[in-house]
Amino acid sequence: MKTLNLSDYKIEVGDVWTKVNTFLNENTFSKLAVIVDENTVKDCLPIFRENVKGHSFHLIEIPSGEKNKTIATCQTIWQRMMEHGLDRHSLVINLGGGVIGDMGGFCAATFKRGMAFIQIPTTLLAQVDASIGGKLGIDFNEVKNAIGLFQNPKAVFIDPIFLKTLSYKELRSGFAEIIKHGLIADVNLWNDIVAVEDIYDFEMEDLIYRSLLVKQNVVEQDPFEKGIRKVLNFGHTIGHALESVALNSNKPLLHGEAIAIGMVCEAWLSQKENELSATNLKTISHYIIGLYGKSMLSETDFPQYLEIMSQDKKNQGKTINFTYLKGLGSSVFDCTSAEDSILDSLRYYNSLTL
Ligand SMILES: NC(=O)c1ccc[n+]([C@@H]2O[C@H](COP(=O)([O-])OP(=O)(O)OC[C@H]3O[C@@H](n4cnc5c(N)ncnc54)[C@H](O)[C@@H]3O)[C@@H](O)[C@H]2O)c1
Repeated sequence: MKTLNLSDYKIEVGDVWTKVNTFLNENTFSKLAVIVDENTVKDCLPIFRENVKGHSFHLIEIPSGEKNKTIATCQTIWQRMMEHGLDRHSLVINLGGGVIGDMGGFCAATFKRGMAFIQIPTTLLAQVDASIGGKLGIDFNEVKNAIGLFQNPKAVFIDPIFLKTLSYKELRSGFAEIIKHGLIADVNLWNDIVAVEDIYDFEMEDLIYRSLLVKQNVVEQDPFEKGIRKVLNFGHTIGHALESVALNSNKPLLHGEAIAIGMVCEAWLSQKENELSATNLKTISHYIIGLYGKSMLSETDFPQYLEIMSQDKKNQGKTINFTYLKGLGSSVFDCTSAEDSILDSLRYYNSLTL
């Protein structure tokens, strides 16, 4: 059991249930509501019920998945909050992946001008990434996270036990963010990542904790993404574009699968435009391809990728913004690349062999 002390809340990692009960006993809330989706209601709620004693709560169930991270689902959540009589002194408990964390947090932060919420993330992606940093929101007009705000939870409780019911693909998707945290800031974390033989048969607690330490260090220096927080976007400029195009295709990519490809391409740019050595580029590429396999990128989609990258909200003006690696565990933000180089990085990915 480990604790991260952030400036205004704590993240507990491990067998968290004593801490959850203490939190609920020490704070007085007028009512409790737990938000779940159709998967976490069956896979995660029983664990929550078994371990949280002496508290009654209202259940708010929503449909799962990114396609439901919408204002329509928020209306359902707010409706249920009203029906259950929640008020500004109530607590919302988000029991689910990043979709529930982002949207449940957004609904809590806006209902009656804001009530408290805690995150109990149940996917690896949510445990190492979405649950920390205070970004809340929903998609709008097919633009990811277009509406939202920054607000921290009262606490985050991360129990790796939830990972046992996650599919291999979902687990591997979340693992991409751990890889990113190692690559941008912690070479020892990277070395321990590449030593893992089978991510599905591995006790994740230590890697989750160390991955969170990287993100904590960054978000506390820059809570509103004005500067250094942009290092967390390594792999995401290209990865988000691939993810968006794939969403509307018959071969959708999970977030982390797209980010994995994005990291290979952006590592190539880091070697071409910055200090990353050819040896390190090769190491990164082979590790990622070995874990995620290959999804050939079609040249016909290249213009659309560039168009999406040019609309990224992290850009300044028309320039596409990147984070580059300087080495393993070291990165630099606010870098730019010409469109031809970006396209060549996609071709580099396509040229790799398993
Ligand atoms: N706020 C942030 O800083 C931040 C950072 C990264 C990602 N995100 C957001 O996170 C979202 C993606 O998160 P995600 O990958 O967790 O997606 P998700 O919440 O859709 O969960 C993925 C799937 O796993 C299921 N699931 C969740 N926990 C489970 C469990 N323990 N066992 C079995 N099934 C389970 C869900 O029902 C869903 O079908 C995106 O909307 C993204 O924008 C936010």
